[in-house]
Amino acid sequence: MNGNDIRAEFLKFFAARGHAVVPSSSLVPDDPSVLFTTAGMQQFKRYYTGELDAKKDFKSLNAASVQKCFRTSDIDEVGDESHLTFFEMLGNFSFGEYFKEGAIQYGYEFITKVMKLPIDYVTVFDPDKVPEGDWRKGVPRDDESRVIWEKLGVKDVRGDGIDVFWGPTGAEGPCGPTTEIYVKSAAGKSLEVWNIVFNEFYRDTEKKLTKLQTRGVDTGMGLERLAMVSQGVPTIFETDLFTPLMKLLPSNLSERTRRILADHVRGIAFLLSDGVRPSNKEAGYVLRRLMRRLITHLHIAGNPIDPAHLYWEVREHYEKFYPKLNTQIVLEEFTVEWARFEKTLAVGLKELAKVDSLDAKRAFTLYESYGLPYEILKELGGEKAKRLNREEFDEEFAKHQEISRAGSVKKFGGHGLILNTGELKAGDEEELKKMTRLHTATHLLQKALREVLGSEVAQRGSDITPERTRFDFSFPRKVEKEELEEAEELVNKKIKEDLPVNFKEMSKEEAEKTGALYFFKEKYPNRVKVYYVGHSLEDAWSKEFCGGPHVMHTGEIGRIKITKEKAVGVGVRRIRAILVE
Ligand code: ALA
Repeated sequence: MNGNDIRAEFLKFFAARGHAVVPSSSLVPDDPSVLFTTAGMQQFKRYYTGELDAKKDFKSLNAASVQKCFRTSDIDEVGDESHLTFFEMLGNFSFGEYFKEGAIQYGYEFITKVMKLPIDYVTVFDPDKVPEGDWRKGVPRDDESRVIWEKLGVKDVRGDGIDVFWGPTGAEGPCGPTTEIYVKSAAGKSLEVWNIVFNEFYRDTEKKLTKLQTRGVDTGMGLERLAMVSQGVPTIFETDLFTPLMKLLPSNLSERTRRILADHVRGIAFLLSDGVRPSNKEAGYVLRRLMRRLITHLHIAGNPIDPAHLYWEVREHYEKFYPKLNTQIVLEEFTVEWARFEKTLAVGLKELAKVDSLDAKRAFTLYESYGLPYEILKELGGEKAKRLNREEFDEEFAKHQEISRAGSVKKFGGHGLILNTGELKAGDEEELKKMTRLHTATHLLQKALREVLGSEVAQRGSDITPERTRFDFSFPRKVEKEELEEAEELVNKKIKEDLPVNFKEMSKEEAEKTGALYFFKEKYPNRVKVYYVGHSLEDAWSKEFCGGPHVMHTGEIGRIKITKEKAVGVGVRRIRAILVE
């Protein structure tokens, strides 16, 4: 079956069995704790928790989709027979209707009857295979799934550990044990084609599991892999989903490189179409890496093809199914990045040729000066780059970000104000999170300074950016190093205690009587919020008039470090502090 047929058959199969067909969501999820959509279930997270009602939204408790996905976790494996960054995931979902029996039955039927593929073996969850101390250790063995498979005539049922436990995506969410279906490829290797998840638990940010109110099913099957076994070819790059692209790629590049480029072309086209733009951070940085890798390899091959042909090919293949695919934007953005990178690329490659060994530090310098991404340095560095590894490179990257953060007092007005919550103004969700942590830390810091230096410490000003908090306060002399350390330690101790943070709204008079601190220069309205850190307002460790937002528990702050103390006026000192975790 070709790729288009498989998509259609899959959706038809589940529609005929009472599933609402739901379109793919964007590759950029509205969950700020993750960069990309990595699974079909992400757009359905809130149906599992009961926050949203599937009956109301889909007129069914069951859904099916073909979801665009992007995973960076497999990026180093791309180039082998079956790994990709961008791929399509076929999935069926149930939000409280069917469970193990139904899901396994459907999986069995679709693979063996519709796809006519023999199942090689399946896996089920076994906690004995989970390492001691892991948060999944206490989940019971999935004997129920084993019995269901055996009844269907599947004899080879293998127990497995953390690889057959899904989720959560992001900091918290639904999760549960899974059962996987393996099918033999033409090359004789057994390949996982389908992952069937039984969402029974909710994992909170502290990795604590609680039972979900309604149990659910979430499944994911990679279209490209299924096409590979269905078409009897030894790699996904020989399926009809890839052959037209592979044909266009220069034959003087290695097979592995051509596979990587075919993968990246699709990733770039879909990421750009979903609004990601190349940059030096987060999703934009991942996109830039893909683009630059493609540009470099074509450059080395003597630019034998205009990349526009590659993108047109992607459009040709996918536009019917994904109407949002926009080659005009893709070409415009690609051309800009190409022009930007071309300027330094040739020089960068020459520099790379000159160095005789490439450690993380040197690799980072080449990245910083010429924009050569890690993958290119690793690939083209050959023997010289043997000892270069991604972890060390990422460390250099992070170190550099710390330094540039410390060096630039970026005001939030400067980078596109989109969120304005209470007292904080951030450029995006990610920034807002950091600023919220720093905001609560600033309350703790004021209190700690009063403990260490005395009650003459009073706020004179405060300014929070995603990089740091700056706190001005009245105090007649320099604060000694030991005193700063003591205050810092006290703040970190209160963070460790993971105290709850709450507020009460009341009249200004009442609020003053609680002993809460306030900033005398500020004009407060008649009703104010008092934010307090501790179990009750009465015995809270810190209390302040404040509009928020704050973290829910001090533990979320991580750790802080005081980086600077100086005078900024007569009797006024300024302290800066950053988050170090
Ligand atoms: N959410 C599961 C996965 O992506 C099905 O593997």
